[in-house]
Amino acid sequence: MFFKPFTGLLALGALISASVLPPTNEQAILSNPSSHSHHEHQENAFTRPTWFESALLARRMLALSSSGVISTVFPDPIPPNSRTPASVAGLPIGLREYIADCDRALPDKLSFGDNGDPTILALRIATTFRNIGAGSNVTLELDWWEHLEEAVPVYPGLPRSPAALPRVTLFGYLDPLPSLSHHDAVWLPGASRSPHASFWARLIVTQAYWIGGFGDVQQIGWMDVTEWKGIRQWSSSVGDGRGWEDVRLPGEKQR
Ligand SMILES: *[C@@H]1O[C@H](CO)[C@@H](O)[C@H](O)[C@H]1NC(C)=O
Repeated sequence: MFFKPFTGLLALGALISASVLPPTNEQAILSNPSSHSHHEHQENAFTRPTWFESALLARRMLALSSSGVISTVFPDPIPPNSRTPASVAGLPIGLREYIADCDRALPDKLSFGDNGDPTILALRIATTFRNIGAGSNVTLELDWWEHLEEAVPVYPGLPRSPAALPRVTLFGYLDPLPSLSHHDAVWLPGASRSPHASFWARLIVTQAYWIGGFGDVQQIGWMDVTEWKGIRQWSSSVGDGRGWEDVRLPGEKQR
C-alpha cells in the first residue's frame, strides 16, 4: 500500500510523457518539466486547490468527523506503582477518541464562536487523558481514509489510493469545559450511571498540518491558522468569503 502513491506518480509521469510529448523530448520534460508548454497545458487538468480552499476542506472534514486519533507521550519517568511498562516512558502513543465540531452548539458563554477548536470527550481513566494530565503535549489527526470506496481515482485509469485522500493534524492544548448537563447517555459527563468519570474539553488549535493528498494535485504543509479559525459553515471572514459548506470532500456528492 505504501508504494502505491509512487507507482501512481510514476505511471502518471509515463502517461503524460507518452501522450503529450514526442519521444525525443522525453528527457527534456523529465529534467525540466515547467519549460515545456505542452506539459503546462497538461498540468492545468490537475490544478491544486488554493490554501484557502484546502482550509475549507479541512474545516469541513472536522465538521463531519466524530472521532480522530489523539497522540500523546507517556510521562518520563513512568510514575511508580503504574501498570505501564517503564520502557515506554517518553514514547508517543496514538489512540482514536471521540471528538465533535460542536462549538457552535455550546451555550454562548462557553462558545468560542465556531472557530474550529474541536470538542473532545475525555475519559479520565483513558491513557490519552492520563498522559495529558501528566503534562503531555497533544495532537489530533483527522482523515478521510474511510471514504476510499466513494472517491474517484485521482489519476484516470489508475486505482484509487487512500494516500490520495486528505488528512489534517491539529496541534494545540486542552481546555476543559465546565460540565454540560443536558446529556443523558451513560458515558457522558455528569451522567449518574456513568461507568467512568469523564469531562468535555476543547482542543485550542495553535497549528494545523495538512496533507491534501498527492503533492502534485493537492497542498501539503502548514495551514494559516487565522484562516482555519476564521472559517464558518456558510461564509467566512477570511479568504474569499466562502464557508465549508461550499466545498466537498472526495466522494461526496457535489451540490
Ligand atoms: C510540550 O511542548 C512544549 C513546546 O511547545 C515544550 O516546551 C514542552 O517541553 C513539551 N512538554 C512535554 C511534556 O514534552
